[in-house]
Amino acid sequence: MLKRFYVATMGCQMNEYNSDHLSRYLIRAGYLPVETPESADVIMINTCSVRDKAEQKAYSLIGRMARLKRKKQDLILGLMGCVAQQEGAKLFKRFSELDLVMGPRQIHRIAEWIERIEHHHEKVTALEIDLQPSPAVTEPGYFNGRIKAFVTIMEGCNNFCSYCIVPYVRGREASRPHMEIVQEVKSLAAQGIREVSLLGQNVNSYRDLQGVGLDFPGLLKKLEKIPGLWRVRFTTSHPKDLSDELISCFKHVKNLCPHIHLPVQAGSNSILDLMNRGYTREKYFELISKLREARPDLAITSDIIVGFPGETEQDFHLTMDLIKKIEFDNLFSFQYSDRKGTKAEKMGGKITDTEKSARLSLLQDFQKQITLKKNKALEGKQVEILIEGQSKKGNQLSGRAPDNRLINFSPNNNELGTIVNVLIKRSDINSLWGEIIRQE
Ligand code: 5AD
Ligand code: SF4
Repeated sequence: MLKRFYVATMGCQMNEYNSDHLSRYLIRAGYLPVETPESADVIMINTCSVRDKAEQKAYSLIGRMARLKRKKQDLILGLMGCVAQQEGAKLFKRFSELDLVMGPRQIHRIAEWIERIEHHHEKVTALEIDLQPSPAVTEPGYFNGRIKAFVTIMEGCNNFCSYCIVPYVRGREASRPHMEIVQEVKSLAAQGIREVSLLGQNVNSYRDLQGVGLDFPGLLKKLEKIPGLWRVRFTTSHPKDLSDELISCFKHVKNLCPHIHLPVQAGSNSILDLMNRGYTREKYFELISKLREARPDLAITSDIIVGFPGETEQDFHLTMDLIKKIEFDNLFSFQYSDRKGTKAEKMGGKITDTEKSARLSLLQDFQKQITLKKNKALEGKQVEILIEGQSKKGNQLSGRAPDNRLINFSPNNNELGTIVNVLIKRSDINSLWGEIIRQE
């Protein structure tokens, strides 16, 4: 009988890509994907540990899946992602139900690990990280019916921001060969994918070390030529490596969407220095001006950490001031949490939880007003939407504008994966509603 597998995914887009990637390797090895963990013979849990909350959620997810294993002894239970890499074989002690603990660069060997567990009845730890990212699986079919896909172009990080666990759990930067990426994206476009998001911890340090040493702007120009690939996005960019050449891609590369996610993390130079970010607030303002000059309709989003060790009232005020001056289209903000083994964990001047949460609420309330103002300014404007599917509420369709805003509208014989023009009629902080003008 065919073995059935289920992948539970949490965390970032990189993890979503890795889960897809793992699924394609399993399908290639003859496994069948199923919709519920209860009906699976193999369960893989893909975890995140970037912040303490994510890590705690991962442990409760492992706990829930472990209960299934107690009812079904021959179930194979594996863990992957950042918690797996961070905790390693220690996890077998805490969760005796686990059979496999696998790091992010081991995905291509999944069938081999499962076989070892089945035939030799051993627990497997596969954590070597100093490797090239796993090669793509491009057999057609997997993406049928989908409109969008992620493609990881580089893995790992060399930046060592003082608060961040990523360099420890995702290893050093390694870029995939550009020919392999181009082939993968071509195969996605041929399966009907119209929008691809290129992923990397720091996409702008992408460099194909083979041949001419193609860089990230060079890769974007290659992807521009792929037939049927209407939209390209990328995330995440580090401000210290954002080149003028990449900025000019927003002007010249036709299928590159006008949106950049550019995490600033803090608005005070002394905190940026303690964070080891490698830029100043002045430099960040300069980048924003250049970006807006190259592409006036560019949406800019960012990440911010509040309550970093040593953050004074004045430092926090500078962060609020930066938000006020830039007016981000959207912001992802977090309370600082200690991550094991990072430099910040050992720093003095820790901020209390009460203070962190007060600062976070102030910041989030402030950003809400900006987001609302920006959404309201779109009312009466016409935008091109790529139809993605049913909206979360009601019987409407939803799709994204080029700047990544999600818009809901009434169906009108429209097919998923087509582009329609929509007039924005109404908006609030979280949603926008529109009416179709004409179908192309
Ligand atoms: N505490 C809080 N937020 C963090 N991030 C990364 N590490 C931490 C931490 N230790 C946030 C950063 C990053 C996003 C993915 O998560 O803002 O950009
Ligand atoms: Fe979480 Fe970072 Fe790992 Fe992604 S790379 S899963 S955000 S810890």
